Amino acid sequence: MSSRKILLSALLMGASFNLFAHGAVTPQSIDTSELPQLGEDWLDENPYRSETGETLTTIIQVGASAYNQNCARCHGLEGISGGIAPDLRLLTPDFDGDEWYGYRVQNGAVRNGAVYMPKMTEHLSQEALWSIKTWLESISEDI
Ligand code: HEC
Repeated sequence: MSSRKILLSALLMGASFNLFAHGAVTPQSIDTSELPQLGEDWLDENPYRSETGETLTTIIQVGASAYNQNCARCHGLEGISGGIAPDLRLLTPDFDGDEWYGYRVQNGAVRNGAVYMPKMTEHLSQEALWSIKTWLESISEDI
């Protein structure tokens, strides 16, 4: 196990504990002040994918925590879908995967008037949402 993986696992255990402790029913705001800022307009492609080193490590840490607090209850703990909602690790780390991701987090999912997934851009910043995509890409190798 690489040290990055150990760090991530430790982090995820902490995040999961938080999830159960608080129930996490409403979207939780995420502190993204340490991440490169992205502006107001939604970007078509994951701007964090090209980051490296400590910046990338920070992005992945924030993304893991943001995912566990806001997406895990439907999409599964640690990104492993229990079948309620799609497994987000399968989104591709390219323009197509980013485009579909962007569409869903901006529009949510509504079927026959029932909200299956809230519009995540109403609750989370663009920085938080792209950090989640970056974290998903970092764990998708393990599938
Ligand atoms: C209340 C449950 C719920 C929460 C919370 C939720 N989702 Fe979803 N999400 C769904 C459901 C259900 C679908 C499938 C919708 C469909 O296909 O009609 C979905 C679909 C998606 C898709 C499309 C995936 C695909 O393969 O088609 C993306 C991307 C996505 N969600 C991202 C997120 C992110 C990121 C978060 C957290 C910030 C999140 N979702 C939180 C329920 C949820």
